[in-house]
Amino acid sequence: MQTVLSGIRPTGNLHLGNYFGAVRNFVKMQQDNNCYFFIADYHSLTTHPTPEDLHTNVKQVLSEYLACGLDPEKATIYIQSDVPQVAELYLLMNMNAYIGELERTTTFKEKVRKQPQNVNAGLLTYAVLMASDILIHNAHKVPVGKDQEQHLEMTKKFARRFNQMYKVEYFNIPEAYNFGEKLVKVPGLDGSGKMGKSEGNAINLVDTPEVIKKKVMKAVTDAGPTQLNQTKPQPIQNLFDIMKLVSTKDTIEYFDEKYNSMQIRYGDMKKQLAEDIVKFTTPIRERITEIYNDTKYLHFVAEKGREKAVASASKTIKEVREIIGFKHF
Ligand code: TRP
Repeated sequence: MQTVLSGIRPTGNLHLGNYFGAVRNFVKMQQDNNCYFFIADYHSLTTHPTPEDLHTNVKQVLSEYLACGLDPEKATIYIQSDVPQVAELYLLMNMNAYIGELERTTTFKEKVRKQPQNVNAGLLTYAVLMASDILIHNAHKVPVGKDQEQHLEMTKKFARRFNQMYKVEYFNIPEAYNFGEKLVKVPGLDGSGKMGKSEGNAINLVDTPEVIKKKVMKAVTDAGPTQLNQTKPQPIQNLFDIMKLVSTKDTIEYFDEKYNSMQIRYGDMKKQLAEDIVKFTTPIRERITEIYNDTKYLHFVAEKGREKAVASASKTIKEVREIIGFKHF
């Protein structure tokens, strides 16, 4: 069985883009892989959250992922900071990560540009921590978005370097998990190509029906088609693309026809779209609240995950220490 691993940063709420782009695939993968899914709370310290925010955010994402169908009976679901072996591997891997290559990382350069007042060492070594997350369970496959591909390339490099340095074939060289055909891109409401966290662009799973309606009604459109059967400009195509995820075939065909015959009323289309999104998210939203308030269940999940993750991580650390040459007297 293949080991699949992915980390989730506890920032903000899950939106439809996360759901259709990632989480839905995680849920499928847990059926026939040895899956590790964890909340990357060490990573989130680079932005200096308050203790209250840190805890609430972890609790929120954990509840959201469970509500979407991640199953503690099938996958190992844990909190990164519950597994201190990750921090030890991070220390060891840092010795073989070079300042130059870390400084050249795109995400690091971006942080330097965007937040020059907080360029901490954790940001510089972000990729090393991520590599440690992956290598601690010797994962084969890592489902990641485009923005994380470079980090995964660095993980491969660190794994190979370790193997070469100690003349072992210890670490697997992990592969990016590509969903290929099944990869869905969820567009944003602001006319942009991708749903993300920016203002006015995303529908969160926790959004109430009122909020969803407001957001959809405000979505960017245009003055309407000027020719029969014309190609749809991106903001309009976006609405159709979101519709494809939540609406019935008939609904989509109906509005497509209206557009092609230049009779479309965007107001009607948005109303329908909002309704269909609400229909889709309501059971998930209710489940999130239920889980969030179920302290006992959250404790059960986190403990079960911690035990399994620590067992696997301890084994790796023990072996890595031996390879490096640490010996007991
Ligand atoms: N860096 C990832 C992100 O920002 C989160 C992450 C941390 C991760 N460790 C990981 C993803 C290990 C995959 C594997 O989204």
